[in-house]
This record gives sequence, C-alpha cells and structure tokens, in this order.
Amino acid sequence: MCSIIGYYGNEMAAPIIVKGLKRMEYRGYDSVGVATESNGQIVLKKGIGKVEEVNSKIQLDVLPGKIGIGHTRWATHGKVTEVNAHPHYSTSGKIAIVHNGIIENFEVLKIELEKEGYIFKSETDSEIIANLLQKNYEVLKDVKNTIIKTVAELKGHYAFVAMFENGQLAAARFHEPLIVGIGKNSYFLSSDVLGFIEQTDNAIYIENGNFVIIDKSKLEILDFNGENVKQEITKVSKEFADAYKGDYAHFTLKEISEQVDTIFKAGESTKDAIKNTANQIKNSKNIYITGSGTSYNAALIAKHILGKYAKIKVDTVISSELQFSSDLIELNSTLIAISQSGESADVLDAVSIAKKVNCKVISIVNSLTSSLARESDIIIGMNCGPEIGVAATKSFTSQIMIIYKITEELAKETFEIKYKEISESISKILENHDQIRHIAKEIKKISDIYVLGRGIHYPIAIESALKLKELTYIHAEGIPGGELKHGPLALMDSNVFVIIINPNDTTYSDTLTSAREIKARGAKIIGISDKKSDIYDYWIEIPKSNEISYPILETIPIQLLSYYAALEKDTDPDYPRNLAKSVTVK
Ligand code: G6P
Repeated sequence: MCSIIGYYGNEMAAPIIVKGLKRMEYRGYDSVGVATESNGQIVLKKGIGKVEEVNSKIQLDVLPGKIGIGHTRWATHGKVTEVNAHPHYSTSGKIAIVHNGIIENFEVLKIELEKEGYIFKSETDSEIIANLLQKNYEVLKDVKNTIIKTVAELKGHYAFVAMFENGQLAAARFHEPLIVGIGKNSYFLSSDVLGFIEQTDNAIYIENGNFVIIDKSKLEILDFNGENVKQEITKVSKEFADAYKGDYAHFTLKEISEQVDTIFKAGESTKDAIKNTANQIKNSKNIYITGSGTSYNAALIAKHILGKYAKIKVDTVISSELQFSSDLIELNSTLIAISQSGESADVLDAVSIAKKVNCKVISIVNSLTSSLARESDIIIGMNCGPEIGVAATKSFTSQIMIIYKITEELAKETFEIKYKEISESISKILENHDQIRHIAKEIKKISDIYVLGRGIHYPIAIESALKLKELTYIHAEGIPGGELKHGPLALMDSNVFVIIINPNDTTYSDTLTSAREIKARGAKIIGISDKKSDIYDYWIEIPKSNEISYPILETIPIQLLSYYAALEKDTDPDYPRNLAKSVTVK
C-alpha cells in the first residue's frame, strides 16, 4: 500500500531515503515526500507523482540533515493531492510522521484534538498520529512514554515512523510490516528490506505490537507496555537487491521473460517443504486454499490438479471472503495460503481465522521473511526473485509449478512435470513479440474483451482477464466455455474481441464450437492454441504439449499481449493506476 522509511546515520539522509523509496514504489506510487531534521528543525518536501518525477521537479534528495523519513502513498483516506501526501507535520511542526495502514478511530480522535486547538491540513487518517504524538509528548516530555500512550489510543492497522525535532526517530508496528536495517553507523526503518538492501543485509523484523526508538545511534526495541524486547538480527537475501530492470524497458517485461528459468526454481529454496506439505495434505481431512487476485487464480488451478491427479478434494476460498464463510472452516483442517508478497492483509486475515480453529497453515510465498511466512507451519518459497511489476507474472507460473510439485509428490505414477519442455516452449513463445505486438495494436481501441476457456483453462481465462484489466484498463472477463450460451453470448457483436484458450486437448472441440458461435455474431477471435483454425482472426501459436504444461504456456502470450497493449495505450505497465503490488489494508 504505502511505503515508509526512516534513516538515522552519518550520511546525508535525503538521497538515501529517495533511493529506498524508489525501490519500494511498488507498494504505492501516487505521491511521495521526504522530511529531514537539521539543526533542530524539520524540513519537508512532497508532491504528486512517482518518486523520479517528483524528485526531478522539487529535488526531494537535496534536503539537509542526516536523519530523515520518507513515504510513497497509495491513497485510502483523501484524494491524491500534495496536502494529503506524507510526511505530515504535527500542528507545532516539531514532529513529522509517515504512516502505512489505516487508523480506524481517526474521526473521533480528530474531533477531540480539534477542540483542543490542534490543526489538521489534510483529509488523511494519518495526520492524527502526528498531532496525537505532539499532544502526548508535550505532557510526557519523553519519546518512549509518548509512543506507549499514543499506540494505546490508536485503533486500526499501522506502521509509522515519527521524527522529533530533537533528532530522535521512533517507529511502531501494529499489523503492518516494519523492518529495521542495521548498517555501519546507521539505522533504517522500513516497510520492506528493499528500502535499505543496497546499504545493509542485516535486518530485524519487528514483531507485531512492538516499537523502536533510535537516539544518539542507540537502538531500543520495546513492546507496547514499554518492556524491552530482544530481537534477533536476520541476514536477508541479497538476491532481493536484484531489483533492476537491466536492459529491459520495464520490470514487467523482464519478469515475463524470466519465466524460462523461474519455473525450474519454484519451491527449491525451502528444503523438504514439498514433501512435508504432501504429508500434511495426506493426513488432513479438509484442505482449503486461499489467496487474492492472481494468487487466488493459482488456487483454482490447484483445486483442479490435486483433484484430478492426486484425488484430493480441496475447497478454494477468496481470502477477502473467508470472514463471511468462516463457519465452513472445519476444526483441525489445513489451509494453504498463496501470496507472492506474503503481506496481503486479506490473506493474513484468512490465516488468522483458520488458526482460530486450529488449522495448520502452509504458505506458498515469494518473500520468506514476510508476515505470512512467519505465521505458517510449512513455508514453500516461490524462489522467483523480486517481482516489482504490480501485475503478477512470474509469481503466477511459480505458484503453478509448486502446486505441480506437490501433486507429483502425491501422485508419482500419474503426474510428471516436464520442466525442460516447458522452459523451451516458453522461450519459443517469447520469440513471438512481433505478432503479439501487432495484435496489441488491434485491441487497443476495444472497450470489451472476453477470454474463454474450459476445464483447467478456465482459471487461466480468469487470470488473463485480470492481466488485461490491470495493464490495459480495458474491461475484460473470463468465461467458462459452456456458460457462453447462458448469458455472455448476448454481448457478442462486432465491437468485441474474444480470446479463445484452446489447446488441443479434451476441451478442444467444445471450445471451438463456442468460438464458432461467437464468430457468427461478428466478434473478432484471437485463438491461443497449438492447432490452427480458420475460425481465428488471429492465431497465437503455442507449442504442442499436455494438460499439465498448457496452463503455463497459455499464460505467457496473454502476459505479453497485456504488456504490449499497455504500451499501445500509453499506460505504465509496471505501475497501473489505482493499484498496488502489496495490498496491506483490508
Ligand atoms: C494486489 C496486486 C495483484 C496481486 C494481489 C495478491 O492486488 O495488484 O496483482 O495478485 O495483490 O498479491 P499477493 O502478494 O498476495 O500474491
């Protein structure tokens, strides 16, 4: 959602903070700001837009001082305006804060503080933290007690960093991530290790309900009652520093291309986790799989594959919906939670509901140090490297590969993953940029695209529609082939494009029949298949394969098509409007 960062050290703070914010921009990117402390004064700059844009306009990185805080925003309370951008000063200007999360009781607190003369400039819930800190600090005159009193008064989910005019930094964590980076003579406070990975790989993952004070180069970690807490330093993987586009025009294109390799690596970073998962599944009466967005679409693939090949029945639940059907989760079951970031609030919420009824939690996650990983009994790492593009690409195929590995473990006789063949086929599809780019030009003016698939190809149709929505802002919808005549056929005319996911397997002829019915109504057809047909206006060829490999192979051209259509529409494929990579609010 938003990213927060704090720096305390011997170097100029602002350039370091701006660098860290650029790396964390995936968390939110509608506005940005930096505040630093210099000679007992807090100075602040902020603006609307991405870090690079704002920095080139107002030079966020030339603020004075060696202590500072910064923020990238994804608006929740209040429009995208400069005033609503963080950091926020307290009324006196002696404290500034950056915040990630939601303060649920901000309206009540605001009324009280306004009565006492505190002034609010923004529409945000966050500004309340600055003024509440000021109020408590003026009475208690001590940062530690001020934080204890303030967090006791706040309700919601938050991580914030506060900078005091005397150069002290404090940060608190309540259900939003907060990580301390420990450098040589410096400290970082950040939402993600990416905020400081270039400077240090020593990190402390602050536990929920704890806070940190940094003062005169001394770091103190305390719980919300003020008791000192000992927390271990973890070495974070330097691999996550590898968040550069290299020669690619966008992260999204780089990440699509990396799938040639990432499909081999899925699950490899966590020894025995696949075996342990298979055992847990075998011994559990009920299995539920949950996720949000793309990760939920991977759960739908899991349901199909585990059912068909391992004869294991699983229920899938969209994470944000679990709270409304929590009674369905039976005692002592297993919940498999799929999440690239491991920080999606909806997924974490689903996990906490399942834990209340004593479920074992298995996570399929890319960030092994994420909140989800730390809540899990078994962790399977996607191991696909940092995914920066907001729309998930390589993490989706890694999730599918992990599901396949689990299935292979459970059904050795009937299920075989042909890694090399899949990888070579991905390479072949990736050679097809020119044709896909040409089709992207054709779809750019269209307002509706439908994607049709049957069986295991239906989840791919939904995922394809999601990719098109996220990257191109074109309305797109996945349709199960057989349902066409039960409604969607009414929408077909010469103004729409329909993508037919039609590999040459048991779904082929039924899906071709659907394509014929659509074509008869004048819609344009893009066929994704290993078999040519005259029905297709555009045929995107995928190599001949089998039911297990097809879902991965079908995904690649749709990712490329969405990417190129985004370029044609002049939208930013890495940072689609209104979205965030890691949605840490409910
Ligand atoms: C956000 C992203 C989606 C992603 C979803 C789940 O909504 O924009 O692309 O699929 O979160 O993310 P997760 O990290 O839990 O897999």
